[in-house]
Amino acid sequence: MASRGRKRGSEGRRGDHLSRRARSEGFAARSVYKLDELQRRLSLVKPDDAVLDLGAAPGSWSARLLELTGGPVVSLDLQQIERIERAGRAATVIRGDFTDKDTINTLIELGPFDVVLSDAAPATTGNRALDTTRSAALVESALVLCGSVLKHGGNAAFKLFQGGDEQRLLSEMRQRFEAAKQLKPKASRNESFEVFLVGVGFRG
Ligand SMILES: C[S@@+](CC[C@H](N)C(=O)[O-])C[C@H]1O[C@@H](n2cnc3c(N)ncnc32)[C@H](O)[C@@H]1O
Repeated sequence: MASRGRKRGSEGRRGDHLSRRARSEGFAARSVYKLDELQRRLSLVKPDDAVLDLGAAPGSWSARLLELTGGPVVSLDLQQIERIERAGRAATVIRGDFTDKDTINTLIELGPFDVVLSDAAPATTGNRALDTTRSAALVESALVLCGSVLKHGGNAAFKLFQGGDEQRLLSEMRQRFEAAKQLKPKASRNESFEVFLVGVGFRG
């Protein structure tokens, strides 16, 4: 991402270590360890859950999800994803924009889901105000989408670039979920300003 170089020292080494580890374990990106931490701390995904993964490319979250659940995993991204396979199964891969009406209709047909995850991020410009505003808009769209595809009692987690919208979005989530909180996984680079907003127990 244009505005964020790698840090030297322990953070840089840790980042390299996680990238190497992801490759050696057959994952497309080190992001998988962020999902692992969310899962370890909050048990968002249960065996047999149907899961929707928004902003799924290159596919490390969806690959892990195929291990975590025996239920369907639907992986959506603006970018083409050839195939995501793990644990002898494959995700249903869709190319599209989850803010777009036709894509939403496709997701409604494939749902409902027990869990909706979004690691989606806007293409960064280096203008932090613009990037964080676009990131917050993606969280809002994911939240609206939940109203159409997330089951009552379901869980969700959305990536957000911190820029002042955290409390507003969290309070929106608290109205729609039994509980909502903000987390910054240790696997996020220290210099990254991303956090995850997590909602548990969707009220519909
Ligand atoms: C950080 S990457 C996701 C990494 C992924 N979780 C993994 O582990 O491989 C963010 C992705 O969000 C996607 N994205 C951003 N906006 C989107 C949108 N409106 N609809 C679908 N995908 C989107 C981007 O194309 C990009 O591939």
